[in-house]
Parts: sequence; C-alpha cells; structure tokens
Amino acid sequence: MCPSGAQPETVPGQQLVDDAPIEADDSANFSDYDDSGSVASSTQSLSSSIREHVYANGRKYHRMSTDENQQYLLPSDETELDRLDMGHHACLVTLDGDLHRAPIEGDPHNVLDCGTGTGIWALDFGSLHPESHVIGVDLAPNQPSWTYPNVEFQTDDLEKDWTFKKNHFNFIFSRTVGTAIKDWERYTKQMFEHAAPGAYVELCEHAFETSCDDGSLQPDSIFIKWSSTMADALEKMGVHVRDFSPSFFRDHLKAAGFVDIKVFIYKVPWGAWPKGKKFKYLGSVCAEVMKTGLEAHGLFAMTRLLNMPEDEARKMCTDFYNNILAGKEHCYHYLWHVVGRKPDTQEEA
Ligand SMILES: C[S@@+](CC[C@H](N)C(=O)[O-])C[C@H]1O[C@@H](n2cnc3c(N)ncnc32)[C@H](O)[C@@H]1O
Repeated sequence: MCPSGAQPETVPGQQLVDDAPIEADDSANFSDYDDSGSVASSTQSLSSSIREHVYANGRKYHRMSTDENQQYLLPSDETELDRLDMGHHACLVTLDGDLHRAPIEGDPHNVLDCGTGTGIWALDFGSLHPESHVIGVDLAPNQPSWTYPNVEFQTDDLEKDWTFKKNHFNFIFSRTVGTAIKDWERYTKQMFEHAAPGAYVELCEHAFETSCDDGSLQPDSIFIKWSSTMADALEKMGVHVRDFSPSFFRDHLKAAGFVDIKVFIYKVPWGAWPKGKKFKYLGSVCAEVMKTGLEAHGLFAMTRLLNMPEDEARKMCTDFYNNILAGKEHCYHYLWHVVGRKPDTQEEA
C-alpha cells in the first residue's frame, strides 16, 4: 500500500471483498477497451424545462446548483446523464451484475431509490421485481416520463422532511449521493422512520482518496492534488467527503437504529492497468466515466467554490484524465455498500 493510499478500515460486520492487491499488467495498452463503441446503456432521460437550468463552463446545471442554493454541484445535461448511466454499468460490473448487496428475497412491496439520477437503477430493479412498487426520487426531473407500470419518479429534496408514509418502504437504496448530502444523521434517520419493520437499507458510496497497492502513486500526483482540491471545494458546500469511510456510514446507520449492519468493500481501478480481465474491464469503464466526470465534478466546484480560474481548473481535470491514460500510477478508489436492517416489531418490543 502506498503511504498516501487509503487503507480499508476494519469495522465490525465488515465483509471485505476482492481485497487482494490489484496486479498491474505491464504490457497494458489502454486501447484494449478504448474503441469508439460505448459500453453505456442508452439514456432516455428527458431534460426538464430550460427555465430550471443555469449554464456555466459550457455545461447545463439544474437551478438547485446555483449560488444561492449550492445544493448539488454536478451538471444536469445529456453528457452527465450518459455518464450516470455509464456509472451504473460500472456498479453492475463491480457487483458481478447484481443491483445491490442487501439480501432481498422475492419482490419487496415498496422500494425507494434515493437520488435516482436517470432512474436506471429503479428501472432495472422494477424490471427484475415486477411485484415491487419502486419510487425513484431526485432533486432534478431527469428521469424518463415513459416508465414501467411499477416504477414511478418523483422530484423532491431528500434533505427536507420526507412526505412518504412512516414504516412504509421494504427496501431503501441510496447510491452515490455523497457529493450532495450535508446532514447524514438526518438522512439516515429519515430512512429509518420511513422503512417498514424488517426492511433493508443500503448506502453505496465511494472514497474520495486515491489508493494504490504497489507504490506507483507519486506524492505529487495529480490524482492526490485533484482529490484534495475537490474535497476542499465540497467542504465549502458543507459536504465533508474526507469523513467518508466504512465506519462513517456504518455508524450513521447504527445511530439511526438499523441492526445487522454489513459493509462490503470493493476496489475500482482507474484505467486499464490491472492484469485480471474483470479489473481491466472495470478500470476501462471507470476511465470512461471519468472522461467527463472529472470536469463534471471539478469545473463548477473549483471555479465557483474555490474561485480558481477556469483554465486552471480545466487543466487539473485534463491532467488527471491524461494520467489515467498514461497508466503509470496504478490507482483505484474504494466503493462501499453498507447494508442494515430495521428491527422487526418483535425485536423492537
Ligand atoms: C451522482 S448522481 C447518482 C444517481 C444514481 N443514484 C445512480 O447511482 O445512478 C446523484 C443524484 O442525487 C441527486 N440528489 C442530490 N441531492 C439530492 C437531494 N437532496 N434530494 C434528492 N436528490 C438529490 C442528484 O440530482 C443526482 O441525480
């Protein structure tokens, strides 16, 4: 492990998956997976009214991202929606095709997908569980209006008081909303209140630190510089990604009242440098996500929140992506799935 690389934490209930060091393929040629064909599933998402958007750095943002709100820093245009669908593909590859790690049996009656994005997870879950009723909620109405009969989308702010029925949902899923949620205590408490007794909750978030197993990460790496600059920018929004760790999410679920908490830990390589087929493919998909994701995350945050000149911010994002293509620093980030269960009525008594 590199001195500056993040270490997985040992927390009770943790299940470490794929923790062996990722071996580099010295003969790796980035072009192994770098053809013009996209591995993304197509997006059918419809953009909301132009009046709900602002434009900056050549990208379109939902009005919730404007200076007064500063609620969500990522853009809300077709490029970003395609990126989110590609991110979904990366998550599927990571979980070997599974949508979640919660031990779901049959079709849970009421399912909530928090921060649903393009709605792709909600649609996939609804398709696999025809007896479930899935609600995908997001700040921005970027989901298809034509959807499966058992999947519905709602536009709402999950950091405000939830208007759903209490003790209602049989499965609550929340994936990669970490750059937006400011109050995890309230967020997980509302999950508990609105979960039915015996229901599962699952948080999927990733580390913002750069990890490396073989010493190839340099102390002055752009990977470290970019991540640290982003963390500084997010701090200004009240989002503290430096706190993120398996125990951070586990402790929040526990404090909210969930039991039987399990943490599943995965490594997501940046680029095609790993030796094994799965990691090489996952790294290539991750590089595709980062192709537009670095600017999506970086430009608005660095220019608006840190007052960095746009060309400087753009250069940092380009340097990061070029470093992935160069494949000399064998880096990855951790992805965590943290699963808990609301005690059933008898356990509560
Ligand atoms: C990085 S995207 C992830 C989308 C989706 N969960 C996925 O994994 O494909 C984060 C999503 O969370 C939404 N979001 C952020 N803050 C939110 C809030 N307070 N309430 C509802 N949705 C929110 C954003 O609009 C965005 O669509």
